[in-house]
Amino acid sequence: MEEKATIISLKHVVKSFEDGVVVVDDFNLDVKEGEFITILGPSGCGKTTTLRMIAGFELPSSGEILLNGEDISLLPPYKRPVNTVFQHYALFPHLDVYDNVAFGLKLKKVPVEVTDKNGNKKIKMKHLSNKVIDERVLRALQIVDLDEMEDRDVSTLSGGQQQRVAIARAIVNEPKVLLLDEPLSALDHKMRKDMQVELKEMHKKLGITFFYVTHDQEEALTMSDRIVIMRRGEIQQVGTPEEIYNEPVNAFVADFIGESNIYNGTMERPDRVRFIGSVWKCPIEEGFQVNEKVDIVIRPEDVILLPENEGIANGVIESKIFKGVHYEYIVKVGKNEVLCRDTRNHEVGKAVSIRVEPDNLQLMHKDFTINQYADAIIDNNNNVIIGEDPFEVDVTQLLKGSTLDEQGYLIGPDGKKYDLKNAPVVAEVPLDKITLSDDLSSGQSNGTIISSVWIGDHWQYIVRTDDDEDFVANSPYTWNVHDLVSIAIAKEDIAIRLKKGIEEYVIG
Ligand SMILES: Nc1ncnc2c1ncn2[C@@H]1O[C@H](COP(=O)(O)OP(=O)(O)O)[C@@H](O)[C@H]1O
Ligand SMILES: [Mg+2]
Repeated sequence: MEEKATIISLKHVVKSFEDGVVVVDDFNLDVKEGEFITILGPSGCGKTTTLRMIAGFELPSSGEILLNGEDISLLPPYKRPVNTVFQHYALFPHLDVYDNVAFGLKLKKVPVEVTDKNGNKKIKMKHLSNKVIDERVLRALQIVDLDEMEDRDVSTLSGGQQQRVAIARAIVNEPKVLLLDEPLSALDHKMRKDMQVELKEMHKKLGITFFYVTHDQEEALTMSDRIVIMRRGEIQQVGTPEEIYNEPVNAFVADFIGESNIYNGTMERPDRVRFIGSVWKCPIEEGFQVNEKVDIVIRPEDVILLPENEGIANGVIESKIFKGVHYEYIVKVGKNEVLCRDTRNHEVGKAVSIRVEPDNLQLMHKDFTINQYADAIIDNNNNVIIGEDPFEVDVTQLLKGSTLDEQGYLIGPDGKKYDLKNAPVVAEVPLDKITLSDDLSSGQSNGTIISSVWIGDHWQYIVRTDDDEDFVANSPYTWNVHDLVSIAIAKEDIAIRLKKGIEEYVIG
């Protein structure tokens, strides 16, 4: 395949606003001519800011943005050969479809060579002729499939049709790059699906570069040539939809892209990994150490459901949903949930077992800056249960301005009352905030040291509890593998976030 030229380059682009918070951090990306590239990431990760810098509505704090190799960082928006379709587009309600699209063109002046009455050639800025405007508007309307609707009042159009007018208005200027910021987010599900297909068609017809931004992973997977996954201002991974889906580089990407089972695991041997209470055969990959903590990702379609005792781990079918071609089951293995798919119809409550082909276990290095417990719950005394042990936690962090009443219910700033009993949460504890001690009565939990690594100036221990929960802790003190220690965490050092919205827990 011929290698396409690079049209946009972002080099070490950093953006921070007045408050000093860095919202885009060392962003590096080359976009090819004609490519459909998508930035995908959760809300607030810096997608819009990145797009606005390309459009020229924001200046980078540092770094460069090149267009065809030339620095455009300081070029004003109207001089850049790009056009933007915004999330919230504003059409002129008093104009019809044609005039909405033609609006910019009618104002536009282009340089034309003219000969004055003395025979001298001069360059003059002239408006486009009505004929040129007409041709361009009709072509744009054809591309967005609105060529029959040019006389319609925009206020009589559906949401999808209005969005198409907004796109036509952006492409009528014949930009080299079209920037699209969540352009489908205001549409309902069905309309969004249709528009995804149509946008892809438009991209083909126009042959220009589409730089798309969305928080919707399915949208990104369906439309893009390449996807850029962003988190907290930083690029996590760049790749084709297949690469991102099949080979996520870390647990964040895996979790964000599609439905996955993700577990905490520990390497037992180069070809064995322990998670959810069993030891699994896995592919031998370079760079994984025995006892290293890893993330394991398993796609639901790769879990094989078998009769009890035939697979690697036994479990019980906890729920099922019919999905047309297959059923989607949640199998409970110990306290872990395994999402899987099977075309056969099994009863809820049935004892089963599961197996996964070694090649379908994706192992990933853990980014070990924090202990994360994705399946913690709040008990009725405002403790968070990690493993099977309660740790006192400040639940008022879940709602700004909240307090606790005498009975321990959370009271919102507006007086609403919340019962958080059994609420599933993700709990996080930094490695430095776990105190290990020989005094077994001094912590909330006990465990055995299963690994110790000297990291420069301190030890990093993995402590495993009886219920197979692992705590990674930094400590200046020396223990040996197999030593029994207590685990203490101060109330203020446990960060929690609800898996569902807080509104689920309102009781009055
Ligand atoms: N003009 C601004 N001033 C200060 N902070 C801003 C400004 N614009 C955006 N931010 C902050 O930058 C972060 C990224 O925002 P944004 O790029 O809009 O994210 P996304 O589009 O991915 O949802 C957010 O935390 C947001 O509050
Ligand atoms: Mg945005």
